[in-house]
Amino acid sequence: MVLLLLLLVVSLNQEGLYLQQVKLGFDDPDGALSDWNNRHDTLCEWSGIKCDLETYSVDLSNANIVGPFHTIICRLPNLTNLSLSNNYINSSLPDDISACEKLQHLDLSENYLVGPIPTMIANITTLRSLVLSRNNFSDDIPESFGRFQRLEELAPIGNLLNGTIPSVLVNFFTLRVLNLAYNPFTPSQIPSDIGNFTNLEFLCLTQSNLVSQIQVKFQRTCVPWGR
Ligand SMILES: *[C@@H]1O[C@H](CO)[C@@H](O)[C@H](O)[C@H]1NC(C)=O
Ligand SMILES: *[C@@H]1O[C@H](CO)[C@@H](O)[C@H](O)[C@H]1NC(C)=O
Ligand SMILES: *[C@@H]1O[C@H](CO)[C@@H](O)[C@H](O)[C@H]1NC(C)=O
Ligand SMILES: *[C@@H]1O[C@H](CO)[C@@H](O)[C@H](O)[C@H]1NC(C)=O
Ligand SMILES: *[C@@H]1O[C@H](CO)[C@@H](O)[C@H](O)[C@H]1NC(C)=O
Ligand SMILES: *[C@@H]1O[C@H](CO)[C@@H](O)[C@H](O)[C@H]1NC(C)=O
Ligand SMILES: *[C@@H]1O[C@H](CO)[C@@H](O)[C@H](O)[C@H]1NC(C)=O
Repeated sequence: MVLLLLLLVVSLNQEGLYLQQVKLGFDDPDGALSDWNNRHDTLCEWSGIKCDLETYSVDLSNANIVGPFHTIICRLPNLTNLSLSNNYINSSLPDDISACEKLQHLDLSENYLVGPIPTMIANITTLRSLVLSRNNFSDDIPESFGRFQRLEELAPIGNLLNGTIPSVLVNFFTLRVLNLAYNPFTPSQIPSDIGNFTNLEFLCLTQSNLVSQIQVKFQRTCVPWGR
């Protein structure tokens, strides 16, 4: 009997405790996180968690979870992918998201995020894709974005971005996809230097108040977007 009890009380490691805190921060009406408990001896079996040689990937897309963005998730060591796409994340994004310092792919699309895109997000210099489409982000694309070193995809489509595009955008030699469509940016012309991007394959400025004389260089057409 004692042995049985001992077997049931499998202790969680530190990463498990962080994930428990992440779970507590969300309302989870569908029980998407119901297997995030101490009955598994490895977190890698929990819904949405993938482990690969000392790195973690968290994919909670389409989980119907509700609540603010908590940076506690950034305490997972070597968190490389984070997707919370298509949920009800309803806060602003905190500056200390920069604590997710190993992140390569961040997808927060289709949520209820508001306020400015935090300046400090650009401190995540490992970031390769930043997908923020279909939220209510406002203000500018921060000047700090010049610090990104590996960003290949920047797609804040369908937000309320009503400010300006930083001139540093022309330094993004790694960028392949730039999609700024469906935002009420301050009317302006994208610097023609943007055509100097050696890697740019796709530029979309539909209904963004932005114009560019070099857009014809990029052959793919912008996808129609309803909101
Ligand atoms: C993070 O990854 C590095 C290798 O990239 C590894 O040396 C380190 O042990 C990992 N850290 C943890 C806490 O898993
Ligand atoms: C976000 O959702 C949570 C959980 O439903 C709620 O308690 C909170 O008031 C919401 N916050 C905002 C800013 O709407
Ligand atoms: C991380 O995200 C990228 C881009 O969405 C994807 O190609 C890759 O397979 C993901 N890796 C893991 C381990 O889920
Ligand atoms: C997002 O913006 C739309 C359009 O302005 C508005 O109707 C909606 O209430 C906003 N939602 C949030 C969560 O701010
Ligand atoms: C972000 O990067 C800037 C410039 O490199 C640095 O001054 C600042 O301390 C960093 N902030 C954080 C929170 O890492
Ligand atoms: C952009 O929208 C935000 C939030 O609605 C507002 O506070 C700000 O004044 C607007 N900025 C401009 C330049 O219109
Ligand atoms: C872009 O290319 C043009 C012409 O090739 C050049 O004059 C300009 O200085 C370049 N801009 C940048 C930022 O490299």
